[in-house]
Amino acid sequence: MPSADLADMNADMNAAVDPLTMRRTMGRFATGVAVVTTSADGTPHGMTVNSLTSVSLDPPLLLVCLTIGARSTDAIIRAGRFAVNILSARQEQLALRFARRGEDHFAGLDVTHERHDVPVIPHAFAHLECEVERHFVAGDHVVVIGEVRAVCEREGEPLGFLGGRFSDIVDRGHEPVHWTF
Ligand SMILES: Cc1cc2nc3c(=O)[nH]c(=O)nc-3n(C[C@H](O)[C@H](O)[C@H](O)COP(=O)(O)O)c2cc1C
Repeated sequence: MPSADLADMNADMNAAVDPLTMRRTMGRFATGVAVVTTSADGTPHGMTVNSLTSVSLDPPLLLVCLTIGARSTDAIIRAGRFAVNILSARQEQLALRFARRGEDHFAGLDVTHERHDVPVIPHAFAHLECEVERHFVAGDHVVVIGEVRAVCEREGEPLGFLGGRFSDIVDRGHEPVHWTF
């Protein structure tokens, strides 16, 4: 390794990783954008997330990391169920709406209620209905693991998020990647 690169790496290893640096660096890991929704005591709740990760195929598990103290975090844990609405490229405004703290995210918004009685955003790229399998605190977030009970997929394009900006995710027509377990 050239000595300049090594020096840079050492400098980075010694630097404290503050929250902004963490956010900026992880922002290089491009993601989709989803809204997690639930209904607790008859009131709908929802928040925009990009911390969505698939955890297990059998059983089907996913996780989201939710800020401690956010209204939707408490509501999801109280209700014990939630939906993950994966947004389409046309739903940037919904992503912004569900990221505004303290606002009524559902004002004037038509939602449907599927089998598991959680509000679901119409025309999302996909949605997954989940039951909370477990949850635990990690740092300043609650990791919520959901067992997926039902899914729905639609035609279209997903909304992307990269470097703190919404972005396109482009299918360049490459060969599918075949991987085995
Ligand atoms: C693209 C994007 C991704 C986000 N991802 C997360 C996330 O994964 N976890 C989280 O707690 N907040 C995330 N947020 C911030 C929440 O959406 C925001 O704090 C929300 O308003 C909190 O919900 P509340 O109004 O129910 O408190 C994200 C915001 C944006 C715009």
